[in-house]
Amino acid sequence: MKVGYIQTSPIFGEITQNFEQVENLLGNTKADLIVLPELFATGYTFVSKEEAESMAENTEGATAKFLMGLAEKTGAVVVGGFIEKDGNHIFNSSMIVSDREVLGTYRKLHLYYKEKLWFSPGNKPLEIYEVKNTKVGIMICFDWFFPETIRSLALLGADIIAHPANLVLPYCQNAMITRCLINRVFAVTSNRIGNEVRGKDNFVFTGGSQITSYNGKVLSSAPIDKPHIDFVEIDVTQARDKNLNKYNNVFEDRRTEFYSLE
Ligand code: ACM
Repeated sequence: MKVGYIQTSPIFGEITQNFEQVENLLGNTKADLIVLPELFATGYTFVSKEEAESMAENTEGATAKFLMGLAEKTGAVVVGGFIEKDGNHIFNSSMIVSDREVLGTYRKLHLYYKEKLWFSPGNKPLEIYEVKNTKVGIMICFDWFFPETIRSLALLGADIIAHPANLVLPYCQNAMITRCLINRVFAVTSNRIGNEVRGKDNFVFTGGSQITSYNGKVLSSAPIDKPHIDFVEIDVTQARDKNLNKYNNVFEDRRTEFYSLE
């Protein structure tokens, strides 16, 4: 399976230009799974709920159409971030699309910093999408800080985690090595680069998009300050063997009766 990321430098609010940037970086690439950053079309640093609402879409909007077009052109299933509108609520979401349809959306469970002022926290269960004989789980950016997220996706059977991100802390790329190792899952963390100064906020996004293997190896690591794409071939069936060695199984060895998870 050929999986990869597109690390972009979105311009705040310039949706058409941000779409073009993705297309230009991709060129004629063919793949099986492509992951784009969190909120790749809109940018990240909103100054009000109204501003975020003004860029919100449903799964029939411009971002869904764009991502389905990419899926058609590349042959891939595509995952990318957008602002999802549902009634009076907006969510920091990612959608997963094929060339024919939006397969589903994931609404970020763990909101970072002022995201809590604009977005409602995710209100749907974690889900696994079966595509191309592969089980794909989705989490978004700061969800990495809560190891329960990837553990739950792994227990639900994920082979690979699609992880759209707009990282501003410097820890995630290292943490994903451990997250993948201890769950024996692959992950594609698709981050952005650049700087957004809006309102009182000044974010520098950390790039370093990463493809992490089930055994903790880093299969691809992007520069911290340049747009970049990369794809690697992986065998997702390796993520289905949860044996670390002859005596240790990362799921069966858990002592759940001794854990207090409240
Ligand atoms: C983040 O969750 N975008 C920092």
